[in-house]
Amino acid sequence: MSESGYSYDDCKSTADWLLSRTDIRPLVAIVCGSGLGGLADMVKDPKTFKYSDIPNFPQSTVHGHAGQLVFGTLKGKQCVCMQGRFHLYEGYPVQKITLPMRIFKLMGVQAVILTNAAGGLNRDYKVGDVMLIKDHINMPGFAGTNPLAGPNDQRFGTRFPCMSNAYDRQLKQLAREVGDELGFGEFLREGVYCVLGGPSFETIAECHMLHRLGADAVGMSTVHEVIVAHHSGMRCFALSLISNLSVLDYDSQEKANHEEVLETGRLRAGQLQKLVSTMVSRLDLKDVHAA
Ligand code: HPA
Repeated sequence: MSESGYSYDDCKSTADWLLSRTDIRPLVAIVCGSGLGGLADMVKDPKTFKYSDIPNFPQSTVHGHAGQLVFGTLKGKQCVCMQGRFHLYEGYPVQKITLPMRIFKLMGVQAVILTNAAGGLNRDYKVGDVMLIKDHINMPGFAGTNPLAGPNDQRFGTRFPCMSNAYDRQLKQLAREVGDELGFGEFLREGVYCVLGGPSFETIAECHMLHRLGADAVGMSTVHEVIVAHHSGMRCFALSLISNLSVLDYDSQEKANHEEVLETGRLRAGQLQKLVSTMVSRLDLKDVHAA
């Protein structure tokens, strides 16, 4: 990787390296968030690549993230899952965090489904709610941490991409329909996700600020991946599992912690797997591999 990120050729050589080692031609990529790695275990006839074995790939350092790419079929659809993702707080440059999106694009992926665990700022939310992300606030972006900063390679996308349509409305609608059919309506929400750099959780004052700015949930991932995926023309759907409620009250004894995040993931894991796999089974994507 150079100062300005990975080149098109770096991404292409990693994509080709992977494609030459599996017969799967994925149209959909799934990014499993903290405690939600079980999604990848649903993949049939899996072909797994440890991040440490993939050329150019960063390593995942977080407890609760396995650190591997899993290729296979989910409800008959060819897919690739990231079991473990990369975060700013691990110390990676933002271009490194988002590299997998470009590799997916060059492998022919048309749609990306991202999951994360997040703190609920919206006072109507409960632990265990699932928020369909309709929009984001890229807080590190305000300070210049944008994965598209640096020279732009037009082969990926345009210099100044529009972000008002970053979250595909049809995919969000599909999630809502599938969720209602499965009887999940009661805990499905829709809202705005704000990303921060972490790894420290927010102070009470920061939670108040984010809430006033219009964020419904706060976390440390997803947004950078969505910016890069959307830039390159892949459709994006993302959801947050509300793993804890952000503390807004100085009298509260609650403390955000990573164990709670993983525990809530375990509680909802089965239902989220059902939601995402049913969505995947109904995706109508153009097969670029058939051309
Ligand atoms: N804040 C930031 N990131 C998180 C949280 C939180 O409360 N919960 C899960 N990820």
